Amino acid sequence: MKTVEDVDLKGKKVLVRVDLNSTVKHGRVKLTPRIKEHAETLDELCDRGCGVVALAHQGRPGRDDFTNLEEHAELLNHLLDRRVIFVSDITGKLAQKTIDELHSEDIILLDNVRMHEDELKDVSPEEHGKSELVQTLSEHCDIYVNDAFSVCHRNQASVTGFPQVMESVPGPLLEEDIETVNHIEDSEEPRYFILGGNKPEDAIEVMEKMLKDGVSDLIMLGGRVGEIFLEVTGHDLGAKSNDTEEFEEEIEELLENFGDRIVMPKDLAYERNGMREEVKVEELPVEEEVFDIGTETIEEYRDRVEYAETIALNGPLGMFEKENFRKGTEKVLSKLKGLDKFVLIGGGDSSHAVQDLGFDLEEDFSHVSLAGGAFVKALLGEELIGVEVLK
Ligand code: 3PG
Repeated sequence: MKTVEDVDLKGKKVLVRVDLNSTVKHGRVKLTPRIKEHAETLDELCDRGCGVVALAHQGRPGRDDFTNLEEHAELLNHLLDRRVIFVSDITGKLAQKTIDELHSEDIILLDNVRMHEDELKDVSPEEHGKSELVQTLSEHCDIYVNDAFSVCHRNQASVTGFPQVMESVPGPLLEEDIETVNHIEDSEEPRYFILGGNKPEDAIEVMEKMLKDGVSDLIMLGGRVGEIFLEVTGHDLGAKSNDTEEFEEEIEELLENFGDRIVMPKDLAYERNGMREEVKVEELPVEEEVFDIGTETIEEYRDRVEYAETIALNGPLGMFEKENFRKGTEKVLSKLKGLDKFVLIGGGDSSHAVQDLGFDLEEDFSHVSLAGGAFVKALLGEELIGVEVLK
């Protein structure tokens, strides 16, 4: 596949899809590895003498973290020696004028692309190519670069639409992820997955394939996905109860067919009077919300990974941002760091945890991907629509 390295960018206007989707806490956007690494991509592109038009999303409509990208632009400005101009528009007159007046080596960041009605329409990639979003921006830019591997499993206009109508190539971070994914087929067995995080629908979707196709020999659960498995198997999470109805059938089937290869938390941690307390799952519910896996579970996961040759962790195991509840994620990551095995960490929140818990993104693990769901799907050998359209 032709890459951005093979294209002459001098004097061109480059539309680049990056992923700046980050944790939003108390209304503030956190400076995550996604923002840092994509800042480098933008900088490198500018160095090649082009004007850069960055396109990204934050959150999903209806969720608390669905915001505009003004703060993301501020963070990029702090990181880079060049000015990043935030445009509070996506395809309107303001966006068009700013792109037309853009100088080489300058960067503009358009607003949250999921605020544009075309982005999330359920249509084919070809139809996305005909959308107002794609037609307008492609008229004002010369080439499209996709550096957001983490959205490549989504058929959304900013991912699959542009390659229908203009020259399109992968960016450096996307390429790096593809290389790692290709390597997994040769990775040694047994392969263990540790799945946590806050997107149970994504995790459950991939689990069956992981277990059925022998991609994974064992899956250990934490985070919200672990909680939901516990609830479906009859544990009452009290204050933290999730709506499990949509997952019940799938989870029951998974446990019936592969129960011996799925490990659920044995204990959980919650906060009482500002302190971390733990409870065995048989003794649930507690009055307070649970925020982490407990010590027995942590020790079990740390022991079990010694028997794997390849380990992939996707999603933090608890609310690592809270001092009292970082233990699960931190202890498991520190065990993985010390292992001489092929260790992959995937996901926006996981890479954020790696950074915030003081690990080194480059040195401590075999590879840290900024992508979560897309990375896992690619590890399972699934074709990613966003990569396919680039080919
Ligand atoms: C991610 O956080 O994994 C990516 O930014 C994709 O976000 P999405 O799951 O909301 O599509």
